[in-house]
Amino acid sequence: MLSVALILVFLSCGILAWRRRNRNKDEPPPLPGALPLIGHIHLFLGNSSQLWNTVKKMSHDSLNAGGVSSLYIGPRTTYFVTDPEDCLHIAKTSLQNDAFYDFGKPWLGDGLITAAFPIWKVHRKLLNPAFNQFILDGFIDVFNRQARRLVKDLEGEVDKGPFDQFDYLLLSSLETTCLTVMAVDVSDKSLLNSEYVHATQNMHKFIIERFQKPWLHSDVMFNRSSLKREQDESMKIMHNMSNTVLKNRKAEYWDDKKCTETEETVKGPKFRPFMDFLLELAIEKDAFNDRQIKEHVDTLLLSGYDTTASVLMYTMLLVGSYPEVQEKIFDELLNVFGDEDRDVTKQDLSQLVYLEAVLKETIRMYPLAPIIARKLDQDIRLRNYTLWNGRTCFLSAYGLHRHPMWGPDVEQFKPERWLNSETLPQCPTAFSGFGLGRRSCIGKTYALMSMKTTLAHVFRRYRVSGNHLLMTNKLDITLKPASGHHVIIEMRKKT
Ligand code: HEM
Repeated sequence: MLSVALILVFLSCGILAWRRRNRNKDEPPPLPGALPLIGHIHLFLGNSSQLWNTVKKMSHDSLNAGGVSSLYIGPRTTYFVTDPEDCLHIAKTSLQNDAFYDFGKPWLGDGLITAAFPIWKVHRKLLNPAFNQFILDGFIDVFNRQARRLVKDLEGEVDKGPFDQFDYLLLSSLETTCLTVMAVDVSDKSLLNSEYVHATQNMHKFIIERFQKPWLHSDVMFNRSSLKREQDESMKIMHNMSNTVLKNRKAEYWDDKKCTETEETVKGPKFRPFMDFLLELAIEKDAFNDRQIKEHVDTLLLSGYDTTASVLMYTMLLVGSYPEVQEKIFDELLNVFGDEDRDVTKQDLSQLVYLEAVLKETIRMYPLAPIIARKLDQDIRLRNYTLWNGRTCFLSAYGLHRHPMWGPDVEQFKPERWLNSETLPQCPTAFSGFGLGRRSCIGKTYALMSMKTTLAHVFRRYRVSGNHLLMTNKLDITLKPASGHHVIIEMRKKT
């Protein structure tokens, strides 16, 4: 026993000495808390709330150290970056997502988030036109219908005290995303139900748990684990849904296409789900096979519904915590809609400038993807350090959003900063709530349109109150509330 301990101590000292010897002056300083042999691994253990606290602390430590640090995951050296200028440089040169994203491959295959760079490059180019303004304008009716349903569902909570608005928002956003991505019949509860919501939320937990347990990083170990068996169960539910919808939609494709073409020429944009766009590329241009269509559909579902629901949840809570912000939103809504309870149009959306500022400020305070991981495929010379080819680089949106570039009021919720370009940092990566560079969010405009429509309906009808200072969060791939996020609603006016 003693000899094993001695060997370990000896090895640890050796590794530390080796690291010190090999740390040339170009290497960023390590984040605090590294231990011999395991590096910073122990800081990632624990539940997903503890993980979130670690990410926040590392981001602040990195900011204090100048914005670029080294992070040791066992014997691996990785980087942790919070400096906007350096992130810009990294985002421009490195487009390959890190191997950690491969944990999502059994679920999302070669969808945009998990695809290797060569496939991503081709597919992103093919998919960009599906998110053009003309196609997105065709979704406004769906956004309005869904927002009205949500407002109606919330009626049951009026004057009843605090409730969990996230449950309502998750289901509403899931339905909206399923409608726009696949035109799935939301009343068909055999496909779209709480079991499906559960399965997707569980998948987030499984992936983050695997990240936190380095011994499960290798496929060999993971494939023997109980986590893998649980993951397979959830995936069966999710894949069943996309398989069934793909089969049905394929059968309807030609009929629907004929109608769409005739109506489009007469009336302008018509509702056309993303899946039809993928089918068109597959059937008419041979660009995708069935597996690839399904992987893109699963990716759009994952990235579309969970993110918009969470941002809506954080926005309602923040707005409920700042009555003066809520009144400014209401004044803007009055200006645009008067007393009418009509649908939101695309012209209205461009006038809801303050509401958009509120959404962006919410995402700055609570970035949904607080950490983005890239694999460096070349040495990168930053202002003070050189990052080495082949290593992982964690870019912290949480840290970027708290960089001194934002000014002395960086910790305050202040939507007004978005209304004047002079009060915003000049560096484009200072705000990374929708990712960075060419690999940033393909659904940003869709998300803003959908969230603005939803909130216009909600805030026209209800006054919300809450206290975001009571909230605790966790990191389940995306940022999520752990507790304290409940709100109270009251009716603004009778209709
Ligand atoms: C408020 C809502 C949203 C937020 C905050 C958000 C945020 C992000 C972020 C930070 C990334 C980069 C992730 C990374 O590099 O690791 C990303 C990528 C992505 N997002 Fe979003 N997103 C939102 C809504 C949507 C919606 C509605 C869709 C689709 C319907 C979508 C589809 C995607 C896809 C496909 C990618 C991968 C892009 C690529 O690698 O080419 N997102 N999103």
